[in-house]
Amino acid sequence: MLFQLSEEHLMIQKAARDFAQNDCKPGVIERDETQAYPTEQVKQMAGLGFLGMMVPPEYGGSGLDTISYVLAMEEISKVDASSSVIMSVNNSLVCWGLEHYGTEAQKQKYLVPLAKGDVLGAFCLSEPEAGSDATSQRTTAIDMGDHYLVNGTKNWITNGGKASIYLVIAQTDREKGHRGINVLIVDANAPGVSRGVKENKLGIRSSDTHSIMFQDVVVPKEDRIGEDGFGFKFAMKTLDGGRIGIASQALGIASGAYELALAYSKQRKAFGKEIAQHQIIQFKLADMATKIETARLLIYKAAWMKDQGMDYQRAAAQAKVVASEVAMWVTVEAVQIHGGYGYVKEYHVERLMRDAKITQIYEGTSEVQRIVISRDILR
Ligand code: CAA
Repeated sequence: MLFQLSEEHLMIQKAARDFAQNDCKPGVIERDETQAYPTEQVKQMAGLGFLGMMVPPEYGGSGLDTISYVLAMEEISKVDASSSVIMSVNNSLVCWGLEHYGTEAQKQKYLVPLAKGDVLGAFCLSEPEAGSDATSQRTTAIDMGDHYLVNGTKNWITNGGKASIYLVIAQTDREKGHRGINVLIVDANAPGVSRGVKENKLGIRSSDTHSIMFQDVVVPKEDRIGEDGFGFKFAMKTLDGGRIGIASQALGIASGAYELALAYSKQRKAFGKEIAQHQIIQFKLADMATKIETARLLIYKAAWMKDQGMDYQRAAAQAKVVASEVAMWVTVEAVQIHGGYGYVKEYHVERLMRDAKITQIYEGTSEVQRIVISRDILR
C-alpha cells in the first residue's frame, strides 16, 4: 500500500494551486458579495483541462485518474468553492455519465465539447418535491414514439443558467416506479425550456443555481441515455462519483480554513504571546489537522477504488459524510480562532464557513449518505 502521490499528481496539484492562488483568489470576496459568476475562472479551467479531467483525450478530455481530480478540486476549493462546484458538476455529473453510458454519436456530439470546456453541462434531478426521495420524480417524459415530451420543474440546478446541455431525469411510466424513469439529454435552448432567477444563496454565492422549467419540450429518442427505464440507476451511479467530487470540495474548504487559521494563530498575539503558543489553540489546530487527514484518506480510498473498477458506492458516501462534517466543524473553529476578524469578510474564513454548509446538503444530504452506508452494511 503506497501513501504517495506520483510526479504527475504533484504537477496537477501544483497547477491547480497556482490557478487558485493567482486567478481565483483575486476578486473572490467581491464575487461572493455580488454573486458574480466566475466567467474568467471557468474559461481558465477549460484551458487547464479541468472541466473534463477524467474523460479520455479522444473525447476531448485530459485522461487523468480520479485522484488527480480530487487534488485539483481540493486546491481550487481552498480558495473558491463557487468555481469548484461548476467544475465538479461538469466532470462528475455530466461528462462521466455520457462517457460511460452514452452512444458513440452522443459522445461525439455532447461529450467532446463538454470535456473541452467549450460548453457547460448541468444535471437536473432535484425537484420541488423530490430531493432526497429521488424516485418521486414529478417531471414527465412521455413516450411519443420517435420522441419524448418533457414537462416539469427542476430545482437547485448548478450551472442551470450557463449550461448548454442538461441531463434531465424524468418519469416515463409511473406504474413502473424507479424502473420507469429515463435520463434525457436536453438542449438548454430548446423551445419550452426556461429558467428561474439565480438563487440568492448562503454560500457558493457566485456559482450559478437556478430552477429550470420544461414545457412540452421535444426530445428525440436518440437523446435518451441507456435503455428505457435506466434513468434512476444512471442518476445513482453518477452520484456515487459526484460524491467523491463534493467530498473533495469539502476537504478543500476545510484545509483552506485550517491554513488561514494556522497562519493567523502564528501572527496574532494575546496575553503576551502568539495565540499559537496557547494550548487551547494548539489543541484546536491538532484536531483540525487530524480531522482533515481522516477525510483526505477516505476520499483517496474512494477515488482509488473507483480507478480500480471496484464498487465504491459505500466508500464515496463515507468520504462525503465525513468530509462535509469535517468542513463544517473546521470552518467554525477557524472563525473562532480568528475572533472578531473571523466574522468579517476580508479574512475569508466566514465565507468558507458559509460555503461548507452546502457540502452537507447537495449530491445527497448527510442523512442520505447514512442511508447508502447502512444499506450496504446490512445488504
Ligand atoms: N448504483 C446502482 N444502482 C443503484 C444505486 C447505485 N449507487 N443506488 C440505488 N440503486 C438501484 C437499487 O439497486 C434499486 O434497483 P433494483 O430495484 O433494481 O434493485 C434502485 O436503484 C432503487 O434503489 P433504492 O430502493 O435504494 O431507492 P430509494 O428510493 O430507497 O432511494 C436514496 C435511495 C439513496 C435515498 C436515493 O434516492 C438518493 O441517493 N437520494 C439523494 C439524491 C441526491 O443525491 N440528489 C442530489 C441532486 S444532484 C445535485 O445536488 C447536483 C448539484 O447541483 C451539485
